[in-house]
Formats: sequence, C-alpha cells, structure tokens
Amino acid sequence: MSVLKHVNPHVMKVSPYQPGRPIEEVARELGLDPDDIIKLASNESPLGPSPKAMRAMKKACSEMHLYPDGGAYYLRKRISEHYGFPPDHFIFGCGSNELIEFIGHSFLYPGVSAVMSEKAFVIYKIICGMFGAEVIEAPMKGLTHNLRAIRKAIKDNTRVVFICNPNNPTGTMVRDREVRKFMEKVPDDVLVVFDEAYAEITYKRMPDTLSFVRENRNVIVLRSFSKAYGLAGLRVGYGIAKPEIIHALEKPRQPFNLSRMAQIAATAALDDQSFVRRSRRTYKKGAHLIMKACSDMKLVFEPPVANFILIKVGNGFEVFNELQKKGVIVRPMGPYNLPEWIRVSIGKENENIRFLSALKTVVSS
Ligand SMILES: Cc1ncc(COP(=O)(O)O)c(C=O)c1O
Repeated sequence: MSVLKHVNPHVMKVSPYQPGRPIEEVARELGLDPDDIIKLASNESPLGPSPKAMRAMKKACSEMHLYPDGGAYYLRKRISEHYGFPPDHFIFGCGSNELIEFIGHSFLYPGVSAVMSEKAFVIYKIICGMFGAEVIEAPMKGLTHNLRAIRKAIKDNTRVVFICNPNNPTGTMVRDREVRKFMEKVPDDVLVVFDEAYAEITYKRMPDTLSFVRENRNVIVLRSFSKAYGLAGLRVGYGIAKPEIIHALEKPRQPFNLSRMAQIAATAALDDQSFVRRSRRTYKKGAHLIMKACSDMKLVFEPPVANFILIKVGNGFEVFNELQKKGVIVRPMGPYNLPEWIRVSIGKENENIRFLSALKTVVSS
C-alpha cells in the first residue's frame, strides 16, 4: 500500500518553489565551462560576501565542532545596537524564507486567509498552501502593489497580509505615504508582514516601517543578510517585531536553525556598512547601464530600485533559453503570469555588459 495517501493533503497540493538555476547544473547540461557562465538569476551579490564576514568566518573554522548558540546571543546584541530595538524584538531564521514559514506555522491554518498582491513573492502562496490557509490575491496597479486593493481584500478571517517591498519579482516599491495610509485603515487583529529583503540596497527611500514596530502595531519587518551583505549561501534572515509577536513565532523555531558560522558572519557583517554602500553604488550604476541599453533596444522595463530589473522581451522563456545557451542565466517570469518578461539581477559591470550583448543578439534574431 502506498504511504502517499497519508501525506498531509495541504502539503501534497504544494508546487515547490523553482529557484534560479545553479551555474554547475547549466554547465553540465549544455556542456559549457562553469567559469564562462554568469548567473544573474537569484539577485545574489556580484561583489561576493562582505569581506569582514569572510575574515570572521576564516577565524571561526576551528569552532565548528560545537553547536551554535540557540539564542544567537552575540548576533542579537549586535543587531539590537544596530537598530536601536531591545534584543527581544528580533527573531532569526535560516534565511528570511524560514521566517515566512514560522508565520505560517503560528498564524495560518485551514479556515483563515492571507492577503497578498497577485504578483508578490511566490513563497507566501506556497506557505499558505502548506498550512491550508486561503490565499487572497489583490490586483496590482500595473506592476506595483495597490495597497487600497489589498486593504479591501481583507476579510474577517484574514490573519496575515504580506507586503513585499520592493516587490520581487516586479521590482516596484510602495512609498511611505501609501504605507502609512494603509496602516491607518488595516484591522488591528491582522499581522502585516513587510518583507524587505532588499531594504539596505535600495537607492530610493524605503517607507519607515520600523516606526510601526515602535508604535507597538501588529507588524513584522523581515530583513535578510543574503542581499546587502552577500551571505545568501549562509542563510541568515531576521524579523523585527514587538516581543508578543516574536514569542508566537519562536514556538516553531528549532533551537539550532541558525548555524554557528552564520551567526559569526552576520555579526561581523553588520560592521561592514562600507560594503553595503559599495553594493548600492554598484547596483545603481548597473541599473543605469541596463536601462539605457534597454531603451536603445526599444525594450520596455520596470525601472529598478534594488539589484534586479524586469524586462519585457517578447517570449520570456525562449529568451531565457537562448541566453542560457550563451552562458547567461536569467529568470523567465512565466510562473508569475508574466510570460513576456525576464527578471535579471544586476551584476558587476563586465557581467552587465556581457548580458546586454547576449540580449541584443537574442532579441534581434
Ligand atoms: C522578497 C524576498 N523575500 C525573501 C527572500 C528570501 O531571502 P533569504 O535568502 O533571506 O531567505 C527573497 C529572496 O530572493 C526575496 O526576494
């Protein structure tokens, strides 16, 4: 008898997340040299990890036989100084993705719903599905969140609203005034999740969502060490909220979810603000180069605010395939119901130039 019939039916229905393709996999499949491939598919840091984090990691290798500190004491202390919130306002996850899962564990179950934009980061839908909660998708204004529509979509059984800002994959940002207006009207028994994985590297001003934490509102701000500090491979994310919310999210957390190396690297990375500034400059400069080239090619794009850009190329999947054959990995946007678009991470100057040259050949052929 098959055990499959006993699998949790909510889990069974989930379509797993499709991440950007790894360089090694594409090299094997197409018979290319991995060193000749560039990956602009997962919004990773083209500058590598924070140098201060790397130095701290090298020094820490000899401690790796020990379990991590389950309470992340030093990282908590350092991040608390960084943000000016008491240490009990933080929760750490194996990437901010794990925090989205904790939100599912603690707040989502059959009979309740969560609201999000139709083209918001897809993990929210996956997590809702996994916990059997209803997904309510609000229409967008073009490729930008429509916070009015999100508010209107909230029902009596809504427990969570996800606002991904800047939104992945569309790259658009909602601004402070709109967010503030939204927060004036949102019911107080709904947890508002501001997913701000790109906050530190945006070159437009982010809304001050931490002010809602200070005001004791029912919000959690999610941030990540993956983008700004180049530590995607280590998996460190965190949430900032009032202690009551943190307490509820701590329940499903396994004690050693954040590895010893991850804690050490993240603590050191917070001292590396010059790396964050350098990253932001790199993205801003790269964005200008790519936007100019897209305009020259008469391609429509969404002006970026962080380290990725959405470009309308015709048949997104075909362009993705053709670029891949030329050793450039980007992300087709079919899964987001944007089949004409690709999402491209902004890389180092030479990577951006190589991508643009390949794109030119592909779209003109
Ligand atoms: C909007 C958004 N949230 C969360 C994540 C996950 O980040 P992490 O690497 O911290 O899990 C990503 C990753 O691309 C993202 O784009």
